[in-house]
Amino acid sequence: MTEPLLEITDLRVAFHARHGKVRAVDGVSLTVAPGECLGIVGESGSGKSVTFAAVMGLIRPPGRIEAGRIRFAGRDLVGLDAASYRQLRGRDIAMTLQDAQTSLNPALTVGTQIIEVLAAHGEGNARARAVEMMTMVGIPAAERRLGDYPHQFSGGMRQRMMVAIALSCRPKLLIADEPTTALDVTIQAQVLELIASIRAKLGMSVVLITHDLGVVADYCDRVAVMYAGQIVEAGRTADIIGSPRHPYTEGLLASVPDLHNLDRPIRPIEGQVPDLIDLPPGCRFLPRCPKARPDCAKPVPMRAVGEGRNVRCVLT
Ligand SMILES: Nc1ncnc2c1ncn2[C@@H]1O[C@H](COP(=O)(O)OP(=O)(O)O)[C@@H](O)[C@H]1O
Ligand code: SF4
Ligand SMILES: [Mg+2]
Repeated sequence: MTEPLLEITDLRVAFHARHGKVRAVDGVSLTVAPGECLGIVGESGSGKSVTFAAVMGLIRPPGRIEAGRIRFAGRDLVGLDAASYRQLRGRDIAMTLQDAQTSLNPALTVGTQIIEVLAAHGEGNARARAVEMMTMVGIPAAERRLGDYPHQFSGGMRQRMMVAIALSCRPKLLIADEPTTALDVTIQAQVLELIASIRAKLGMSVVLITHDLGVVADYCDRVAVMYAGQIVEAGRTADIIGSPRHPYTEGLLASVPDLHNLDRPIRPIEGQVPDLIDLPPGCRFLPRCPKARPDCAKPVPMRAVGEGRNVRCVLT
């Protein structure tokens, strides 16, 4: 087996709030192979963004990485100094944030923003490269648009611009955090196709964070399902979507329409994601689980169930 490009081992990230410690990421382990696309799914508040903010070195007080290892291309990232991290971001790992609106600087033209990234990483002829990247992501008349400000772009074009900036230094790993949430369906598909085609062209790895299992089915080789700060099920996409083993994964699948079987009713998961302060030791899905039994109140470890597949449930 090839060395993973990214390897996260037992990562724990907490935020110290006045009312207690929010354990946003509580023992997450995962790998991403070179060229692979890994999907991360789970309801809002399950720790998806915080996990990858930790990879990017962007956890700031009151947040803290409490434990765990993050290895990228053979290098340990936890505790890496700020200057090395700045070099790594953009050049080796790039992340597009959930909200394109806030992640572009409204006071600078998009040209300044993309050229700055290219120049910072020592790219010659940054202006021509910027136009090339913008054209590649499907921004029409790129040369002319360099002088425009983010507010002059539509939501879809802003997302593309963010992808162009993220890709402008040919990262080995692109982390796309809910790249389509704010977009209409047609533009969503265009942005995802774009990421997929650039992945194929550049051979980069992609982490696709989404709450949409349809997106995972179409674009990801493997998927990790997160719930309340933990991975509850992980494995090959076809296996997980074809035969989910964790009741939470089953719930997620039942809550989205099945395009192959439109007669199947859509059933949302009842209840809410728990408060991540002072969680009881047992299965975190217990209060919402239709299959819960008494032993679910004891700690439930992750178990290997066949080739590359892991499930955290007493039933498996
Ligand atoms: N800056 C912060 N301060 C306090 N709590 C935070 C902060 N950022 C995230 N959290 C908490 O961490 C948990 C996980 O958040 P997040 O990773 O953004 O979820 P997801 O991306 O899966 O929707 C949430 O309960 C959220 O409230
Ligand atoms: S461990 Fe128990 S409560 Fe948790 S998902 Fe499995 S059956 Fe449900
Ligand atoms: Mg998020």
